[in-house]
Amino acid sequence: MSYQNLLVDNQNGILILTLNREKALNALNKQTMDELHAFFEEDYKSYGTIKGIILTGSGEKAFVAGADIKELLGLNAAQASETSKFGQNIFFNIERMSVPVIAAINGFTLGGGCELAMSCHMRIATDKSKFGQPEVNLGIVPGYGGTQRLIQLIGKGKAIELILTGDMIKADEAKQLGLVNHVVEVGQEVEKAKEIIEKISTKGPIAVAKSISLMNSYFDKNADGFELEWKAFGEFAATADFKEGATAFVERRPAKFIGA
Ligand code: CAA
Repeated sequence: MSYQNLLVDNQNGILILTLNREKALNALNKQTMDELHAFFEEDYKSYGTIKGIILTGSGEKAFVAGADIKELLGLNAAQASETSKFGQNIFFNIERMSVPVIAAINGFTLGGGCELAMSCHMRIATDKSKFGQPEVNLGIVPGYGGTQRLIQLIGKGKAIELILTGDMIKADEAKQLGLVNHVVEVGQEVEKAKEIIEKISTKGPIAVAKSISLMNSYFDKNADGFELEWKAFGEFAATADFKEGATAFVERRPAKFIGA
């Protein structure tokens, strides 16, 4: 798919995906959601083996200021439900990616923007960033997973306060709460995300992918994460990567994983 609102830059196997609607503070309109869907459903595969993906927003003011409010206004109940389900499915795809996906955040990260960031595996924010779920200010509820993932990340007590008040919090508080992994100076957010992805790329890639999937299973009400873990542990003991990793440890040299 050719994109109007997404830019993709392959930097040494790390895909930098920039939401590029600066004039609307990168608000997630239908076009952008269609493009995100195409990218995370299929298009990323055309880049072959990648180390990870960094999601960021264009401009100095916002990562993403939410779903596009002007478009939401025109939807009837059935269309709004479909929009919400479609968005949730895109964000599930992000959460289930087998390589790390990191949000590199500068500025407003609100509503659907905060939900997008929360679907990524990690969040790096600049000290100028602000987070919130302000949907109640508009008389609606979060629709792209915010009522679920905010609780997962920061616990129910604080999540309830943020969602019911619609308050914005600064990056430092977001870090204290566990919403953000690292706070950096403006301009360093993509670099920090790259550094983390480069580090992860030296590890066993199938172990990284399986670890993501096992941790996601914690939140799957139909899965027994402990059972999945012991089964995976057995399967991994027989892999070439484990033989290489353990041998490299004994021989005191860096491991060369093959992903099998
Ligand atoms: N949707 C559509 N357009 C948006 C937008 C949004 N979420 N956020 C900002 N914009 C647009 C503004 O309309 C404005 O465009 P125009 O000049 O053409 O009117 C432009 O971006 C710049 O915004 P402001 O002039 O408002 O900038 P500001 O600095 O005064 O304020 C802000 C910045 C505090 C982020 C403010 O724009 C704001 O409150 N935005 C809305 C945040 C919000 O409520 N997000 C939740 C959306 S609903 C949702 O996301 C539901 C869900 O869970 C799926």
